[in-house]
Amino acid sequence: MKTLAIVSQKGGVGKTTIAVHIAVAAASAGYSVAIIDLDPQATAAQWSDWRNAGSGEGAAENPVVVAAPHARLAATIKEADKMGVDLVILDSPPAADSAAVAAAKIADLVLIPTRASAFDLHAIKTTAELVRVAQKPASVLLNAVPARANALIEEVATVIHSLNLNIAPVCLVDRAALRHAVINGQTAAEFEPAGKAADEVQKLYTWVCGRLDMPTTPQKVTNEPLKGAA
Ligand SMILES: Nc1ncnc2c1ncn2[C@@H]1O[C@H](COP(=O)(O)OP(=O)(O)OP(=O)(O)O)[C@@H](O)[C@H]1O
Ligand SMILES: [Mg+2]
Repeated sequence: MKTLAIVSQKGGVGKTTIAVHIAVAAASAGYSVAIIDLDPQATAAQWSDWRNAGSGEGAAENPVVVAAPHARLAATIKEADKMGVDLVILDSPPAADSAAVAAAKIADLVLIPTRASAFDLHAIKTTAELVRVAQKPASVLLNAVPARANALIEEVATVIHSLNLNIAPVCLVDRAALRHAVINGQTAAEFEPAGKAADEVQKLYTWVCGRLDMPTTPQKVTNEPLKGAA
């Protein structure tokens, strides 16, 4: 089982949006996925309620979303492992508090979403320090960047590198589909399968899999005997 934490002290940078999109991408690929919602605002859990309401009872069990206080995080992760979950995604509150620290400490990989504004980049320093203390692999993910903003992305990447942080080579563009999809408990790939947002999320998912050392689709276990076996 792999654990991905999404952490950022700054509010509204896309933590929950990214958590549910990566979760559904992994579930669609065939993995069993759980989101643990550590945020008292319980936004991911709300999204799951909308998803269940829209798709009929029991139809939206993967990804499952569990709201848990961070004091229950280790126990909830253990339970998920026992239940055969392949990927756990931790959605954390907008604070550099004990929930964010617990999430970063227990994760295999930490994603730090940020928007590309000076205010957001300034706030990233506290999150970066938190992740450094947790000593976990981490990458900054640029979210909601304007389309065709290559010069801006390069500028921002320079700032992020100057903080000794790794930056993801993929980013999510500001797309209406990402905003609209979640209202019905969907993701961009379900709302607009051929859209650019769906494509960008898929690229993000593929990159996350690489960082987690996890194939993009579950490896099939065959029961065929090996050639030459008696
Ligand atoms: N790439 C994007 N394109 C367009 N809208 C986006 C994108 N990412 C996030 N949003 C929108 O930005 C708002 C904040 O996103 P979200 O709730 O995911 O952030 P958050 O970091 O989880 O917030 P909080 O800190 O309050 O938990 C939402 O309205 C969401 O739809
Ligand atoms: Mg959130």
